[in-house]
Amino acid sequence: MIRLDNIYKAYQVGDISLPVLRGITLTIEEGEFVSIMGASGSGKTTLLNLIGCLDSIDEGSYFLSGEKVLGASSDQLAGFRSRHIGFVFQLFNLIPRITALRNVELPLIYAGISSVERKNLALEALENVGLTDRAHHVPAQLSGGQQQRVAIARALINRPRILVADEPTGSLDSTTSQEIMRLFQALNQGGMTIVMVTHEEEIEKYTRRIVRLVDGNIVS
Ligand SMILES: Nc1ncnc2c1ncn2[C@@H]1O[C@H](COP(=O)(O)OP(=O)(O)O)[C@@H](O)[C@H]1O
Ligand SMILES: [Mg+2]
Repeated sequence: MIRLDNIYKAYQVGDISLPVLRGITLTIEEGEFVSIMGASGSGKTTLLNLIGCLDSIDEGSYFLSGEKVLGASSDQLAGFRSRHIGFVFQLFNLIPRITALRNVELPLIYAGISSVERKNLALEALENVGLTDRAHHVPAQLSGGQQQRVAIARALINRPRILVADEPTGSLDSTTSQEIMRLFQALNQGGMTIVMVTHEEEIEKYTRRIVRLVDGNIVS
């Protein structure tokens, strides 16, 4: 499903080019649950953003579901994202002034789906993460774990084939983290391909495969 071959990525800061990924080769099959681990600054987020088509690759090749990603325009990258990928972030990235239901509906608004259908799909998505009774709460009225569930419901609303999560438990206590990981496990058992960045050894045991990064290289 994901096939990266000899990927290089550098950031330009002023006149300086900062190499971050130095020849990443990685294949992820449909239905896998993979965690990417490594020290802070090792390139985990950069790699995840490339997998998620959020940023452009300098060199190498990337095929996502058989489609060539390298060289795609920003519109084409947006198309890959909306067709294939759901995103979950450490800080949830919910919009504070609108309810859980409206947050989950948002991707459907951009997809041009009618308001009745949006509401039904969003309620169904909230039910899938166990939050039916919190649909009309705004984020500040929810616990961290509940906010992350809303964010997961939002990530799933477009029926992506891949869930990409960057330290999804990084802001949660350990009990809540385990709940979120069990939710990911259930999604994975339902067929979802999941690629997750974490630096918590406790969390990594939930995934079936661990990719370790050191200074922009995969070491195991
Ligand atoms: N947009 C950016 N511009 C310049 N440097 C960046 C940018 N994003 C990340 N970096 C640098 O790239 C390196 C890897 O960052 P990152 O992928 O975020 O690592 P990790 O997620 O493993 O902590 C770090 O040295 C970081 O400072
Ligand atoms: Mg990071």
